[in-house]
Amino acid sequence: MSEFTLKTPTQEPDLATAMRVIYQWNYDPEVDELRNLYTKATEAQWVSHRDLDWNRDIDLIRFSTTPLGTGVPIEKTSYWRSLPQETTVELTRRTAAFRLSQFLHGEQGALMVAAQLVNAVPHTDAKFYAATQTMDEARHVEVFARYIEKLDEIRPIAPALKGILDQTLETSDWMKKLVGMQIVVEGLALYSFREMRTLTEEPLLKELLTYVARDESRHHAYGVQYIERCVPCLGDAERVELEDFALECARVLIDRNAQGFFTTLLQIWTEAGVDPAKLFTSLHDEREELTRDLPRGRRLGPVQGFVIPTLRRCGLLSERVATHFHGFLRENFGARVAGEDVQEFLQYLPELPEDTARWVMGEIQ
Ligand SMILES: [Fe+2]
Ligand SMILES: [Fe+2]
Repeated sequence: MSEFTLKTPTQEPDLATAMRVIYQWNYDPEVDELRNLYTKATEAQWVSHRDLDWNRDIDLIRFSTTPLGTGVPIEKTSYWRSLPQETTVELTRRTAAFRLSQFLHGEQGALMVAAQLVNAVPHTDAKFYAATQTMDEARHVEVFARYIEKLDEIRPIAPALKGILDQTLETSDWMKKLVGMQIVVEGLALYSFREMRTLTEEPLLKELLTYVARDESRHHAYGVQYIERCVPCLGDAERVELEDFALECARVLIDRNAQGFFTTLLQIWTEAGVDPAKLFTSLHDEREELTRDLPRGRRLGPVQGFVIPTLRRCGLLSERVATHFHGFLRENFGARVAGEDVQEFLQYLPELPEDTARWVMGEIQ
């Protein structure tokens, strides 16, 4: 055991936040849907060391079914397929460790935002719910850290993710905290957990993601149900500010250049024996056939496929902000994915699933 100190070499410098705290003297249930969600959450608590079998070794061959999450089917290129199995197994292991590390650090951010919400939201039911979410997030941090250490090593947080977490923690506006965390960050997480959980054949990871994703679908529901109640109470200027905050969070997370996500992955892959020039040539030459079979609906990423539909449901997708979303999505992914104009973009937006928990488990499309 290392020596106990107040300042540890692993901690970040302090972040000054401007949170306002609200006491609420009404203890009776008031927002029924949030009280129900709180009750559900207390009943759904699970225990990492009791409910997951940590003694199992990770079967790396089965693990290599875990998606890389690059948004481009790199693993289908002839170059990738020509690599020896040991190399692709190693590539999947390191890529997943990087991705899971981002989930892990995001969970720490969620833990701290949820704890802030206990203080900052004005309704008792919402404070109660945020308390259960705080407990959930602690468990998520615990299980992701433990799993990554079993698999590889924890990698540093991507600067774009750190930026969003900082902004969400720093704002004094509790509605912005809900939008930044429950709608944008957890919306993206839910989408990624769903994909990883569905495709991976590694049993411990699948099980862990099943538990985590169930909790996350409640966190997302909390954001949606609370925000959709609040938005009609806002004045125009306040609503515009909230819309812009959501737009900014989503934009930073999706902007591939800002994120440096791909650059980091390339670095990881090069260390594991990939020749980036050959990979790009293969990707370029085979682009047509790699994307031909993908139906249009499945090409939507997490922002377009989930976060923006959530904002629409909450009453935070005015035509003004939709135009901005369309602009940057088109810039990043092209008109085929984002639509030629904002009308086409809105037309292709999917409806949010009726039951997010069942959707995450792959029980409904
Ligand atoms: Fe979480
Ligand atoms: Fe969460």
